[in-house]
Amino acid sequence: MSNIGSYDDRIKNFSWSIAEDELGYKDGDIINIGWYCSDRICQMGKGDKIALYHEGFGGKEKSYTFNDIRLAGNTIGTFLRSLGIKAEDRVCLFMDRIPELYLSFLGVLKIGAIVQPLFSAFGDESLYVRLENAGTKAIITQKKHLSKIRKIIDTLPSLEHIIIVDYNKDKQYQNKEVGFILNEADPVEEMNICPTKADSPSVLHYTSGTTGQPKGVRHVHYSLISQYLTTKWVLDLREDDIYWCTADPGWVTGTSYGIIGPWSLGVTLCVLDRGFSAEAWYKFIEKYKITMWYSAPTAIRSLMKAGDEIVKKIDLSSLRHLASVGEPLNAEAVTWSERVFGMPFLDTYWQTETGSMMITNHPGMKIKPGSMGKSFPGITTVLLDAKTYEPITKQGKAGLIAFKPGWPAMMTTYWNNEEKYKEKFINGWYLAGDRAYIDADGYYWFIGRDDDVINTGGHLVSPFEVESALLEHEAISESAVVAKPDEVNMEVVKAFITLKPGYEFDDDTELNIMNFIRKKLSPLAMPQEIEFMENLPKTRSGKIMRRILHAKEWGEEIGDISTLEDD
Ligand code: WTA
Repeated sequence: MSNIGSYDDRIKNFSWSIAEDELGYKDGDIINIGWYCSDRICQMGKGDKIALYHEGFGGKEKSYTFNDIRLAGNTIGTFLRSLGIKAEDRVCLFMDRIPELYLSFLGVLKIGAIVQPLFSAFGDESLYVRLENAGTKAIITQKKHLSKIRKIIDTLPSLEHIIIVDYNKDKQYQNKEVGFILNEADPVEEMNICPTKADSPSVLHYTSGTTGQPKGVRHVHYSLISQYLTTKWVLDLREDDIYWCTADPGWVTGTSYGIIGPWSLGVTLCVLDRGFSAEAWYKFIEKYKITMWYSAPTAIRSLMKAGDEIVKKIDLSSLRHLASVGEPLNAEAVTWSERVFGMPFLDTYWQTETGSMMITNHPGMKIKPGSMGKSFPGITTVLLDAKTYEPITKQGKAGLIAFKPGWPAMMTTYWNNEEKYKEKFINGWYLAGDRAYIDADGYYWFIGRDDDVINTGGHLVSPFEVESALLEHEAISESAVVAKPDEVNMEVVKAFITLKPGYEFDDDTELNIMNFIRKKLSPLAMPQEIEFMENLPKTRSGKIMRRILHAKEWGEEIGDISTLEDD
């Protein structure tokens, strides 16, 4: 029997108080995610249970009990306080998936500061815009990422502390840089945990839109309620599970379900700090006897590509349940996983803004491969007409995915951008920005995004950010960035450019531009292909028409081009 039991009964009798009661929380109480994920589990008598199995890039293994992570959170939190970090200050985590990343997450939350995790492969420009927007006060990082921070520190007056977790005492460090080696610090047994309330800010995740700079999605401590319950009912985590979430905590999946969900349930988490390799991934499952695995469609398609033979050589019999998020999970991937693992990957749909799962396939339900599933109990989903924004009642008709606001993990604003936040609501609905249809059995089927944001391998990339960065390259005059179809990543970034006089387009220029973006933004944002054009298609008013370039890449009808400049 799965944790969720009967979906129909759950829907009928649903109230978020189910999670509140299980967590011992009442309206108005103190609620601190850092405490819930460590101290509370210890108080329940599970202090000696393994909270984290960590395998580093070189294969080095470490493990931490719930009492270890409780102490580490206290120790890091106390150190941050000693630097003058206070409640609601923003503390950025800019690290690879090393243990300190997970432990600092708890430490920052325990003192009531806001944790701002950023993907460690971000280049200096990506880092700058996010730190600048958040007015970040401290950044916790590794030596290897210092050069990127040093490049921008002088333009970030709010950033007062750069905390290096692998500090080398013999090296020369610069102004604002300070070392903090967890193993060498005196463990702090007891601390005053910040008495945060339901609406106290907790996590700040940056996400990309079509226009403008990335938006800081502000979450609150009360998000725990729905993160806990969806982890329990959809990921179906239980006491003896060994759980692996492949997402990096730089993205929301890596925090909501890569830290908060499992630890609030007192479940053992596994972390592998290395990129994708089918063999290494399978061996990781075999070694730690992983039972529940939450991953993403691009990874699954990459595993499919690696073939079935390799699966037979490795013992994956520990697995009992699989789930996926981040992009459309194609039907072939579901049937493939049923064939090779003996169970399907269950698709889940949600966003950085929603903070927790919204539409899901849960254990025990009939799976329709290719469908995102049904609304999680307590979530009211509708499809809105794209013109009238009225709910569509006709089955099979495409509409905009919208949710009735009010679930616990919903964002509370975009940092410093209340205007953009308000734009997400219409007629009392929260607009997700995606299109879908619903079938006669109440299953949702994803159609596509309702904007130009590129979803590459489950990571959102803003065409605007890439276009702006391209314009900073010496050779480029104009740029337009669109998604290009890709077999594994679903979409990749493609750039169209015109050049300044005196520049030629050849392989070297293309490579040079690609590297320029990779370093400035990130490997994800790097165009996989750059096409030179004499002129970019524009409207009469001079606006570049991405729509035309997008249609060209996808072999679609171009539609109305009557406003085109040269036609
Ligand atoms: C897309 C990731 C299809 C969608 C948790 C959404 C999906 C965006 C699915 C959010 C899915 C996420 N099927 N598309 N199961 N899950 N998406 O904010 O476009 O990084 O709006 O959050 O990814 O991406 P984000």
